[in-house]
Amino acid sequence: MAGQDSASTGADGSEGYDLVVVANRLPVDFSVGDDGEVDWQRSPGGLVTALEPVMREADGAWVGWSGAPDLAHEPFEADGMLLVPVTLSAGEIERYYEGFSNDTLWPLYHDVIAPPTYHRQWFDAYRKVNQRFAEAAAAQAAHGGVVWVHDYQLQLVPKMLRELRPDLRIGFFDHIPFPAVELFQQLPWRKQIIEGLLGADLVGFQRGGDASNFLRSVRRLTGHTTRGSIVTTLDEHGRPGRRVRAAAFPISIDTNYFDQLARSPEVQARAKEIRTDLGDPDVMMLGVDRLDYTKGIRHRIKAYGEILQDGRIDVEHTTLVQVASPSRENVGAYQELRDDVEVLVGRINGEFGELGHSAIHYLHHSYPPEEMAALYLAADVMLVTSLRDGMNLVAKEYIAARHDLGGVLVLSEFTGAADELAPGPLLVNPHDIDGMKDIIVAAAHMEEREKRRRMRNLRRKVMADDVAKWSKAFLGVLTAVPSRSSHV
Ligand code: F6P
Repeated sequence: MAGQDSASTGADGSEGYDLVVVANRLPVDFSVGDDGEVDWQRSPGGLVTALEPVMREADGAWVGWSGAPDLAHEPFEADGMLLVPVTLSAGEIERYYEGFSNDTLWPLYHDVIAPPTYHRQWFDAYRKVNQRFAEAAAAQAAHGGVVWVHDYQLQLVPKMLRELRPDLRIGFFDHIPFPAVELFQQLPWRKQIIEGLLGADLVGFQRGGDASNFLRSVRRLTGHTTRGSIVTTLDEHGRPGRRVRAAAFPISIDTNYFDQLARSPEVQARAKEIRTDLGDPDVMMLGVDRLDYTKGIRHRIKAYGEILQDGRIDVEHTTLVQVASPSRENVGAYQELRDDVEVLVGRINGEFGELGHSAIHYLHHSYPPEEMAALYLAADVMLVTSLRDGMNLVAKEYIAARHDLGGVLVLSEFTGAADELAPGPLLVNPHDIDGMKDIIVAAAHMEEREKRRRMRNLRRKVMADDVAKWSKAFLGVLTAVPSRSSHV
């Protein structure tokens, strides 16, 4: 185990890891063979790419769920880090993951686009599972080590972990939006969530607006005081206790990886092939999303259908490719969304499609990054029309892939990316169907010079801030302040 090479000693005197990441999922996919043997493969997501270099350097461990029910697996080494699986039963997956995380917190934090469901049994499961994650992290961290907890599924972990291991430096990063207090206060367990997060020394958000929403909730819903970005917690006797910082750290992607991928001859050839397979349209539009109701897929397809209906584009010259990767398929709102989108796509294709020319190419699959880069390179217009989105990394991937300075990004105002990237993209309000139609048509007809000018500006911003810089910035702030200064 990597920790055995380390000089660090855990709270109980045993050796431990200097950096422990705690996230709902491990960065590997598990599979169980016919013989019952458990196997795993790396699943290179954004977070693991960001953290891999720091994890290797810092002697790191990653605590997370395997993604399958009742799968118990010993901690194991992979690519220079220790992976520590947390076991969840089928019932816990239903109540903690599908229920409280994705049918309560997810819709609430995305401005109640879908109605959140509040069930006490779901919160009980969330609390129990968070405790399990906290215990697993506490068992791995070296004395005085750093633990970085990720995302809305694990908001109680910072406080639970601090109770178990007061010696640790604890950071939390929220990958999704943090809602306004007027919405957040619907949550029956709002105080527990705020107190859970305040167990951290640093709470990071995607946008300044999310950090402000959190600080307002702290002021409105607890007795703790805030000054600028600092919360001073009050103990049970009303005495000032620890100091917690809340600030924005907008996440990025591995920009260089996408840039290089899109420059490779194989990906360039595949991009050409995609256009040929589509019948060489003048304009190829592209949407790439998890099939999630926050992504505004229904709004986008409705607008597209109306543009066809109005005769402003036609299927001989223009086509839309919509990749909708399967997601959270046991949650009712996701099942409804899939039905709605598929009915809408079917109706538009039936009405406007011609032999050899589909209006919309709908793909309910996930693809490897090479295929994604080819799709990005092939697409003249990228449509990102989320109703609410913490950041939206697809927008950044598209920009990173467009080393040729081609392509137009249509981007929803309601994404974290819009805060960072404006004025390069064509901004849209996806609720304003007429406004969005005009912007989509303008994107399809944009002159080459204007496209290049905008893409150059976008690339200047995106290529400068990659995800490794993001993780270094967060960990830099988390570890900069001497630990005693987190106490007043
Ligand atoms: O954006 C939040 C997030 O949890 C990401 O970290 C993750 O990639 C995505 O949603 C999908 O989540 P999951 O399939 O784990 O529910």
